[in-house]
Amino acid sequence: MSLHSFQQGPSQGIEANSIRSIGEATFIMLPTPEEVAVVAAMKLGQFIKDDPAGVLGLATGGTMVEPYRVLVELISSQSLKVDELTTFNLDEYYPISVENEASYRSYMNTHLFIPARFPLTPANGAQWGKTYVPYCPSEGDIEDFCDEYERAIIAAGGVGLQLLGIGENGHIGFNEPGSSADSITRIVPLDPSTRAANARFFSTPEEVPTHAITMGLSTIMASEEVLLVATGHKKIDAIKHAFFSPPTPEIPASILQHHSKVTVIIDEEIGKALPFK
Ligand code: PGA
Repeated sequence: MSLHSFQQGPSQGIEANSIRSIGEATFIMLPTPEEVAVVAAMKLGQFIKDDPAGVLGLATGGTMVEPYRVLVELISSQSLKVDELTTFNLDEYYPISVENEASYRSYMNTHLFIPARFPLTPANGAQWGKTYVPYCPSEGDIEDFCDEYERAIIAAGGVGLQLLGIGENGHIGFNEPGSSADSITRIVPLDPSTRAANARFFSTPEEVPTHAITMGLSTIMASEEVLLVATGHKKIDAIKHAFFSPPTPEIPASILQHHSKVTVIIDEEIGKALPFK
């Protein structure tokens, strides 16, 4: 799998037997996390190429570092235009400073927006240029801020393609177990297991913020298309419960079984453990 096949379309070079359908979802299973990153980046790159003024939903986390690195390469080598693109990130810690390297604004600037030369006009709020991350600087306005974020997504025309990771507990964005199907952008307490999983990005576990602002499950379900990326054995159970058991609020990602256009890209470590028929 190489970036050279981008010109022929992102499914080029993927063997037919690594593509499976589970309900409405299409699974693409690739041998290594590196190949997962290339195919995920190609899918994002194809979206940008087809709709340079489109609306892309973005995610953070360890899983996305490599796909973004490849996407930056693709944007540069294929001269893809990003200045008219609007992006909305799924979530951000609360409270946090944008200067904190563990903040998702900082992550996005570092891994994608600055190296791929997205126009960024820092505004110390959610919107920098046409990139949005739900970073809320002042405590009093959180609810208004969340409503405004939701309205901004709708005003931009809605998300065309939403990139998602998945938590070990089955969360998408920071929609933790028990999140309601009709939830929209809001402030949420973080699950202790999520704070523990994300402690690796902070100097001490206590520094992990207790809350986050996240798009809701209903916000995510409103996107036209979803691309979920997962690699490594730690995500086996989350993927299994999300797509191979009846949907339940205890596994927020399982709501994606009701979405009509979902692609899941996984590595073999996960794929081999899944009960494909
Ligand atoms: P990770 O996070 O990529 O760091 O595992 C994914 C998530 O929690 O959604």
